[in-house]
Amino acid sequence: MTILVTGANGQLGNEMRIVSKGSQDTYIFTDIVEQKGKVTTNLDITNLDAIREMVKENDVKIIVNCAAYTNVDKAESDHELAELLNAKAPENLAIAMKEVNGLIVHISTDYVFGGDPYNTPCKEDQKGTPTGVYGLTKLHGEQTIQKSGVNFLIFRTAWLYSEFGKNFVKTMLNLTSTKPQLKVVFDQVGTPTYAYDLANAIFDIIENRKFEGNTGIYHYSNEGVCSWFDFTKIIAELTGNTSCDIQPCHSDEFPSPVKRPAYSVLDKTKVKETFGLQIPYWTDSLEKCLNNLTK
Ligand SMILES: NC(=O)c1ccc[n+]([C@@H]2O[C@H](COP(=O)([O-])OP(=O)(O)OC[C@H]3O[C@@H](n4cnc5c(N)ncnc54)[C@H](OP(=O)(O)O)[C@@H]3O)[C@@H](O)[C@H]2O)c1
Repeated sequence: MTILVTGANGQLGNEMRIVSKGSQDTYIFTDIVEQKGKVTTNLDITNLDAIREMVKENDVKIIVNCAAYTNVDKAESDHELAELLNAKAPENLAIAMKEVNGLIVHISTDYVFGGDPYNTPCKEDQKGTPTGVYGLTKLHGEQTIQKSGVNFLIFRTAWLYSEFGKNFVKTMLNLTSTKPQLKVVFDQVGTPTYAYDLANAIFDIIENRKFEGNTGIYHYSNEGVCSWFDFTKIIAELTGNTSCDIQPCHSDEFPSPVKRPAYSVLDKTKVKETFGLQIPYWTDSLEKCLNNLTK
């Protein structure tokens, strides 16, 4: 079977490259631009004709959509492009897969939640209440896929980090080793997710054809719960950057164009029960990523 990965130069896309090595299937890695040293086929997912052509030429049966507009702050002033990439483009991919009776594996976010006050982990059927443009456009993306009638797997994930691209772990690794003091918010609670673990789960589901009869929406993050403050403390601890004085603060101490969810922990019962997944605890995965980053 041929599987097409979009956004292959991003965090999750690069992890998909790693985990799919040695697969029984053929993987094609695509993105809007080339990445130095990596084989990447050009594909702009806003172009339906280009997607159709690539699907036809390569007999693609599954698309794993790792491409997105992911800048949460910038999306507030860039609504049109965020909607195009996060809602219209996934619809294009869904249309192309529907035409060949294929499957789309799409990634969404915990930020589709957060507008309602609650403090229990969010289940898949909980109503979406995004607090900003990014979350809203990602929610629209889920809806366009569902409406298209295609076979789909949507994985909502959270607080993604990896060795690739820009992310919180890399930023804090730098700040905790260079700044004497740091304030980090403690009033936003969620779960960090190592993109490698999510990629591994997606790969396992595809490689072992576990998606058959199991399409739908699923929640996937690492196990456990923390605030960004706790996350930073552990990053510093695991890398021995103990000289930085890290203090908790409230979100309103940082001017931000967008209100982020105060609590967006995902309930992963469904994904674990359906696919028989063992999900790593967040600090164990963080340690692995930090080892890779610092070795
Ligand atoms: N990052 C997080 O914390 C987080 C949390 C929850 C959910 N998610 C979701 O998880 C998924 C993967 O996120 P990520 O952090 O791996 O994303 P990422 O690192 O930002 O990668 C996204 C990739 O998509 C590419 N892209 C942009 N426009 C495109 C287009 N028109 N056609 C094809 N490719 C295009 C980007 O290229 P350029 O860089 O050149 O624009 C980039 O290589 C996304 O759906 C995201 O919404 C992320």
